[in-house]
Amino acid sequence: MSEMIESVLHEKRVFEPAKEFAQRARIKSMTEYEALYKRAEEDLEGFWGDVARELHWFEPWSQVLEWNLPDSRWFVGGKTNISYNCLDRHLITERRNKAALIWEGEPGDQRILTYQQLHREVCLFANALESLGVKKGDRVAIYLPLIPEAAIAMLACARIGAPHSIVFGGFSAEALRDRVDDAGAKVVITADGGWRRGKVVPLKDNTDKALENSEISHVIVVKRCENDIAWRNGRDHWWHELVADASAKHEAPAHDAEHPLFMLYTSGTTGKPKGILHTTGGYMVGTYFTTRMVFDLREEDTFWCTADVGWITGHSYIVYGPLANGAACVMYEGAPNYPEPDRFWDLCEKYEVSVFYTAPTAIRAFHRWGDQWVDKHDLSSLRLLGTVGEPINPEAWMWYHNKIGGGRCPIVDTWWQTETGAIMISPLPGATPTKPGSATRPLPGIIADVVKKDGTSCAANEGGFLVIKQPWPSMLRTIYRDHDRFIKTYFGEIQGFYFAGDGARRDEDGYFWIMGRVDDVINVAGHRLSTMEVESALVAHENVAEAAVVGRPDEVTGQAIVAFVTPMSGVAAGEELGVELRKHVTDQIGALARPAQIRFADALPKTRSGKIMRRLLRDIASGSTAKGDLTTLEDASILEKLAQERGDEE
Ligand code: WT7
Repeated sequence: MSEMIESVLHEKRVFEPAKEFAQRARIKSMTEYEALYKRAEEDLEGFWGDVARELHWFEPWSQVLEWNLPDSRWFVGGKTNISYNCLDRHLITERRNKAALIWEGEPGDQRILTYQQLHREVCLFANALESLGVKKGDRVAIYLPLIPEAAIAMLACARIGAPHSIVFGGFSAEALRDRVDDAGAKVVITADGGWRRGKVVPLKDNTDKALENSEISHVIVVKRCENDIAWRNGRDHWWHELVADASAKHEAPAHDAEHPLFMLYTSGTTGKPKGILHTTGGYMVGTYFTTRMVFDLREEDTFWCTADVGWITGHSYIVYGPLANGAACVMYEGAPNYPEPDRFWDLCEKYEVSVFYTAPTAIRAFHRWGDQWVDKHDLSSLRLLGTVGEPINPEAWMWYHNKIGGGRCPIVDTWWQTETGAIMISPLPGATPTKPGSATRPLPGIIADVVKKDGTSCAANEGGFLVIKQPWPSMLRTIYRDHDRFIKTYFGEIQGFYFAGDGARRDEDGYFWIMGRVDDVINVAGHRLSTMEVESALVAHENVAEAAVVGRPDEVTGQAIVAFVTPMSGVAAGEELGVELRKHVTDQIGALARPAQIRFADALPKTRSGKIMRRLLRDIASGSTAKGDLTTLEDASILEKLAQERGDEE
């Protein structure tokens, strides 16, 4: 460990925001933050009402919040349109001809769309969707690479009031099928392919597979890679042909504040992903406010969030939040290390990115690839850095701070979730002194705490459950078609509060330190997966009798997947089966769920009542010996055998 890291860890080094940064920031000191926090806490409705009034409403709300735990309605009776707020609202200002999207494809092709141009594209596509019969309330699935059409499709759906459901392009045909079915989508929007590490991701082929037995009437296809694809006449339409015939005039209708905006599927603790549902007004206010405050956006900023729109980070901080603020947003289609490990820094230099938001797993990977790739580039345009998705270790934080930020850029470590819609706990860059590894303090309007099972607050530095005690505008409203699961999952664990699934502690300064999930959700490279989901995929294979999946710590991806597998009798365990099972998991879910290690075992450790003891498997997977209470274990000899099995490592 380097000396500097030692000092961070042991002296608990605190980084004060640079003076020149604070001078120009919206919130300039902790005193200002505390005052704003207090004002919001004392008058939640007044506070959020003021934020909401900065946006356009066709009709005002009669009440800011209606709260019947666990159900909230925000801006009750208000009518708005998020697409209008992201586009039309700016056209009567000097932002009209400002870049909205600065896009680069992996092969190096570029497109820049001004607010006026983006508005035009969205109107054309909204009309195209309507010409296919898409109406307010219809669900639209989007399975696209990270190209401008992804944002255009989202904004067009939002404009019409047709909730979108984006499926990340890295998911397989099977995963797409489940999500399209659950959402009951009327239309699927895809592309002939997308570029990833120089290869074409066959999105249209996957879509065809996913829709084999489906009655979906329309598939819209963006021409991106010019590769050969199958075509079903009548069902399939080229995007460019549809918009060629469409009108560029599309009046944004007024939607109720609580009209569903989108669902986004995320992993829970069971095998079945949850369709997290967000609604229009509250989500708009939450993403607008947090983008403005956390990234301290200025008119001249160039903002780059490196996520994919297939995840909530892309929804909130590539599209809705930045565009609602009239920001210029960079969007990049491909891999961070293609053609070489300096692609991100090349983009930062070329477009003079000033605010950069990425994941700890990416930072750790860049750190490993070596400083020489960073040194090739002038990164002096950067003024603020952000991270999201998982806890950031102090080593990675320091490297990000010194090497990428040149020691001058504040780092905002932002804690939030698909369910929260927007950032919840984060430094305000001009005000909050940062401590590497801590997401610091909740934003104004967010009443967060660390509590014990009975809901009482933990003492300073005592580990407990991270909860939110009051509603906030961008909170999920339900799990699509499963309101009971919504109530049980988020409000059933700790009476009266929203429980996120994370463990945390709060230090003597009130700073939050997130300790990770306390449920069977694992976080691999910032991607959320349920161990059950991977297990279900494995046991669906004909050669697998039983499987248990756990996470083990990993230097780059945070956690890695380890699968313990008992083959069917007569089936040989070994490398060949390992290869086969990895392919199978990739087909069922996607490459992101491929186990890093598969360990074969004649039997898995179980309690006398037959429950697999994952706790023990977690210990074995991380290379330590199984600890804790072993008295409930049915057959202790299994543990030894498992620990000796080396496993098939990828
Ligand atoms: C889970 C949510 C929301 C963006 C991407 C992930 C973990 C998220 C942090 C952070 C520590 C973090 C939590 C959370 N997480 N941000 N700054 N520090 N942990 O969204 O897929 O819904 O996952 O990611 O465990 O519960 P998601």
